[in-house]
Amino acid sequence: MATKTSRSSNQKMTDESSALKELFVDSLKDLYWAEKHLTKALPKMAKKATSEELRSAIEKHLAETENQVIKLEQVFASIDEKAVAKKCEAMEGLVKEAESIMSETENGTMTRDVGIIAAAQKVEHYEIASYGTLRTLADVLGLPEAAELLNQILDEEKNADSLLTQIAEAYVNQSAMREEN
Ligand SMILES: [Fe+2]
Repeated sequence: MATKTSRSSNQKMTDESSALKELFVDSLKDLYWAEKHLTKALPKMAKKATSEELRSAIEKHLAETENQVIKLEQVFASIDEKAVAKKCEAMEGLVKEAESIMSETENGTMTRDVGIIAAAQKVEHYEIASYGTLRTLADVLGLPEAAELLNQILDEEKNADSLLTQIAEAYVNQSAMREEN
């Protein structure tokens, strides 16, 4: 009787961990699509930015994002999975929102920059939440190489987010208020 119980509870754990692994791989595919999508969206955002500071922050993060695509391929390789992109509806929506903000604000204004920063920070926050979860899942699943790579990406997203906050606080928000007065 005891043997039977322990066997079924082991089976349950195996099922649970393979379901978690599946969730992990699925989320990885989602983020792989999201990062690739961003490599196309970020240059447009940089081009539309008013201040040089914002433009260069976005360009810096574009270079990081291109590298994150490669890091995600390394994560796939580390778990013997093929790198496959699966459309991420959330990132598609966030990028659409950024595009509509850019079309609704005037060229060369600080208000445009405030809008771009707001949209870019929503992207970063989505990524921070996603990579945080994925890194934890990698830890739980005993995938240290994947966890380390995901942690590196998570740090880059956090840095990009705080750089945007610095720009908003130090420069752009003040100028937008001046424009309104
Ligand atoms: Fe990213």
